Amino acid sequence: MDTPFTILAIGDIVGKPGRNAVRDLLPALRERFNVDFVIANGENAAGGNGLTSALMEEFLALGIDVVTTGNHVWDNKDVEKIIDIEPRLLRPGNYPEGVAGRGHGIYQAGARGVRVCVANLMGRVHMAPLDCPFRAFDRIFLDVSGKADILIVDFHAEATSEKRAFGWYADGRASAVFGTHTHVQTADEEIQPGGTAYITDIGMSGSFNSVIGMDREKSVLRFLRQTKIKYDVATGDERLCGAVFRFSNEGRAVSVERIMLVK
Ligand SMILES: [Fe+2]
Ligand SMILES: [Fe+2]
Repeated sequence: MDTPFTILAIGDIVGKPGRNAVRDLLPALRERFNVDFVIANGENAAGGNGLTSALMEEFLALGIDVVTTGNHVWDNKDVEKIIDIEPRLLRPGNYPEGVAGRGHGIYQAGARGVRVCVANLMGRVHMAPLDCPFRAFDRIFLDVSGKADILIVDFHAEATSEKRAFGWYADGRASAVFGTHTHVQTADEEIQPGGTAYITDIGMSGSFNSVIGMDREKSVLRFLRQTKIKYDVATGDERLCGAVFRFSNEGRAVSVERIMLVK
């Protein structure tokens, strides 16, 4: 059997603890799984909110091939410097027409020159009312058919129902769909009947001594007081969460494995 093509997807990198975990754990992870291509969600990389051009450079230097984002993509204005000119940075593709940046790209990977299309989409349940992500996927699928060997989607959404519905909708068309945004990993990874690998959420990379990466006490106070107390990024118990996907030469998923590594 031909060697499978392996993609590692890393869940929302939250602040410095997330960046530390990725920096320290990625090299061994890459070797252990023979990783050919790395996708990471960077929407919370800059102090928990947004991404900067310097952090994007840092991620590329670590060997991350594509950085996806989500609802926090615009939180740090510095990202505007690169959102239009850096093809390896994606924002959800279902933002309305005219919004800066791009939602998908095709990247040549590995010695075999496998053409990987990465698409980033955002759900609409308990989130901003963007364009329909399902129909946006239809358009991306048409656009890249015949131009990419693998189509992998970061579906950034709050509701598990919307994510699972999208997984079924894309089954047989996407090679893999992974969810991000909730920062909590789900245990429902599977290869669907149509051949698409699926997991509702790959979890976050950051401090687990926290409420989804943020300081526990401040988070509890926010719920107790119902006021806008400013969050701080939590510290301690740094972990990397994600998933490893393997694909055949035809771009069909052959396996999906959840990853949670403690630094
Ligand atoms: Fe996030
Ligand atoms: Fe998010």
